[in-house]
Amino acid sequence: MQALVEKITQCNTLKDLEAVRIEIFGKKGVLAQEFAKMKSVPNEEKKAFAQELNRQKSQLTSLFDEKLEVLSKEAKEQTMREEAVDVTLYSPLKVSGALHPVNETMNRMIDYFVSMNFTIEDGPFIEDDFHNFEALNLPVYHPARDMQDTFFLNDGHLLRTHTSPVQIRTMLSQKPPIRMIAPGSVFRRDFDLTHTPMFHQIEGLVVEEGDGVSFSHLKFILEDFLRTMFGDVAVRFRPSFFPFTEPSTEVDISCIFCEGTGCRVCSHTGWLEILGAGMVDSNVFKAVGYENVSGYAFGLGIERIAMLLHQIPDLRSMFEGDLRLLEQFR
Ligand code: DAH
Repeated sequence: MQALVEKITQCNTLKDLEAVRIEIFGKKGVLAQEFAKMKSVPNEEKKAFAQELNRQKSQLTSLFDEKLEVLSKEAKEQTMREEAVDVTLYSPLKVSGALHPVNETMNRMIDYFVSMNFTIEDGPFIEDDFHNFEALNLPVYHPARDMQDTFFLNDGHLLRTHTSPVQIRTMLSQKPPIRMIAPGSVFRRDFDLTHTPMFHQIEGLVVEEGDGVSFSHLKFILEDFLRTMFGDVAVRFRPSFFPFTEPSTEVDISCIFCEGTGCRVCSHTGWLEILGAGMVDSNVFKAVGYENVSGYAFGLGIERIAMLLHQIPDLRSMFEGDLRLLEQFR
């Protein structure tokens, strides 16, 4: 009996204890063998023999259970120690990304116009002469075509030089009333401090039947848009020229850096030129077969606004993918 007790108490692992369990409590174990001896015990001693054996069995059982509990607990604690994850450990590889300043600025603009009930329209990057020029009142001989340094493809197609062709596509596929914006990439043969061969514009077009759309509607939406983007700025409408609008205007805001007193960013004029706009030219309506309608249009470059908002001095840095710039927008 003492030997069995020691066997149990000296176990250090669950594996050892399991071996001891089989040895003592198993089908062919020590206890089973002892109980088997009952057969040869004289009848009058059977009761005492059985009582003693059961007493020993229950003593061994409770000793075994105790040991099992202790060793199980130890094993569990060891596993926890070995598999522990230090949730406070600093992991420098898990950095979050950020929207590119152009996307972020574009999203803000889209949010504004969507809140004003404009729909978002899309068009192809590869355009034809009709949609990019002709229908926008820029016939082949028109000198204003020179304003847009075009990438021509071999088959007579071209990369769209502005988002204005989406105006044409939308008017050809829908009927008034139209109230749309078209954000997206545009392409021009130009590369210096303020020009990249690919950049982004947002186009706007509102058309209704009859003569209800007036310059004051255009003025309201642009002033409201610019104050949403830039805060409390002054907005100035200058007469200008675009072939697809008549009258045309260029819109400036008071310089957000010097508040109009004059600085390097605004070339000491106190004003920043932001966008072009106007009332849709009747020749554009003619090109898409619209009659008896009125409308306004506007277009602006997204990079220029992102650069002003984030004080980025060189346009080209927007497209170099330099993490030192991009990480600042996290
Ligand atoms: N398409 C012009 C450009 O790329 C921008 C523009 C000016 C668009 C006036 C318009 C507009 O819709 O009315 O320079």
